[in-house]
Amino acid sequence: MAGRVLTVFGNKGGTGKSMTAVHLAVSLMDRGRRVIAVDLDARQGDTKAFFEARGQEQMVAIPNDVDGLLELFENAKAEDVDVVVDCPPADSPMAMAAAEHSDGTIYPFLSGANDARSLGRAIRIATQTQQPGALFCLVNKYKNTNDARALVAMLGSVGVFTMAGVVGDRNAFNSALRAGRTVWEMNEDAKAVLEMKAICDNIHRVMERKR
Ligand SMILES: Nc1ncnc2c1ncn2[C@@H]1O[C@H](COP(=O)(O)OP(=O)(O)OP(=O)(O)O)[C@@H](O)[C@H]1O
Ligand SMILES: [Mg+2]
Repeated sequence: MAGRVLTVFGNKGGTGKSMTAVHLAVSLMDRGRRVIAVDLDARQGDTKAFFEARGQEQMVAIPNDVDGLLELFENAKAEDVDVVVDCPPADSPMAMAAAEHSDGTIYPFLSGANDARSLGRAIRIATQTQQPGALFCLVNKYKNTNDARALVAMLGSVGVFTMAGVVGDRNAFNSALRAGRTVWEMNEDAKAVLEMKAICDNIHRVMERKR
């Protein structure tokens, strides 16, 4: 057994990186894993705030630099602890290092026409850095089911990502995140629960195969 590193990456703001990171971290704990949540977005500190609201601030780490980040990864792997990294909305050196040393990288993006460029950039970064881990794509806050499905089909045909998932635009995420809870712990919106659980389970299933 060895811990794995999952990095939630993206160079556009507000796509759901922190939302995805905290749900992944809690879903790993639900599976009995020990987890460190790395918050690389010190300016906003959303992941830190989420775990503070749960009374679990001790599981959050904020490394000072790339060396500190990579040392944290090595120690976690050696101690069979999983790491989930929440990146800032920028391809900063620390975010790039996290993605390049991850067993899995998750790219959330919004499904609107204006967001096609950020998806293009994500694909370029994913291919140019030749990340050795699995690449996951999350179409977040979709408003139209057919548009979301079409996007997932397109992403499948591009062949860059190991798996693509979708999450609709649902208010349940806002209240849950503020309360330091996942949508399945709040249980206010069955669709939000179903979609977010499916994403986390699918990612963990792929990662288990790679263990
Ligand atoms: N599927 C969703 N439906 C509705 N609201 C969502 C959804 N996902 C995230 N949100 C909300 O959108 C906002 C941005 O989400 P989040 O903070 O996770 O994005 P981010 O990519 O981390 O942003 P930043 O780049 O600023 O760090 C938050 O208020 C969050 O509650
Ligand atoms: Mg964030």
